Amino acid sequence: MAKPKIIIAIDGYSSCGKSTVAKELAALLGYNYIDSGAMYRAITLYFLRNDIDYKNDAEVINALKDIHLSFAFNEVSGKSEILLNDENVEHYIRDMIVAEKVSEVAAIKEVRSFATAQQQKLGSERGIVMDGRDIGTTVFPDAELKIFMTASPEVRVKRRFQELYAGNPNITLEEVKHNLELRDYIDSNREESPLRQAKDAVVLDNSHLTREEQLAKVMGWVEERAVAKAL
Ligand code: CDP
Repeated sequence: MAKPKIIIAIDGYSSCGKSTVAKELAALLGYNYIDSGAMYRAITLYFLRNDIDYKNDAEVINALKDIHLSFAFNEVSGKSEILLNDENVEHYIRDMIVAEKVSEVAAIKEVRSFATAQQQKLGSERGIVMDGRDIGTTVFPDAELKIFMTASPEVRVKRRFQELYAGNPNITLEEVKHNLELRDYIDSNREESPLRQAKDAVVLDNSHLTREEQLAKVMGWVEERAVAKAL
């Protein structure tokens, strides 16, 4: 008998490796992986490109009407990449210019309900791995497996610096550190769906785990939950 499909919600601070484990899990299970952060980044990119004053509610509401987000699977990266009004913007949304503003944009109530509704639709048939900040608490409070990921701040800064440095050798460690600290602060302290560990989430600290060890641990949890669901 086929195993029942479940929802796997992965939340945590920035750059703690959520997307790596989410991507590997989705590939192993044949599930879709959705990077919810990419949606907030794409909305931010749209606001920046179109000079939207995101402190003005009416402007934000109007702008959201013109935003269409979708995902397209890229065989090479093994990941669903985000399309903003049918343009693949996966590359642009990783820019520091977007990273500097995204947490302010993601704190806006209208932006959150816009993104949350789409995320819930994407998971309506289960069989999905989604990572973000509020997936286990707000988007899928009924997810069968909720993981809260952490890693030490030093490890996180180093990882993100290495990623960004590959595309921009002018970036400094200090700049990356400041951005991560600022985003973690805003994400944890906003009014709407702040970053929190869900009560029923399991914690995964991967500061000292290899990719293989981390995947084995998580697959153990998946097995438990899928079996429990089948009973
Ligand atoms: O890759 P990284 O962990 O640095 O961030 P991300 O997942 O790309 O998310 C970028 C930003 O989007 C976060 O700092 C949050 O401000 C926001 N976000 C959110 O508010 N809720 C989510 N479910 C996902 C991201």
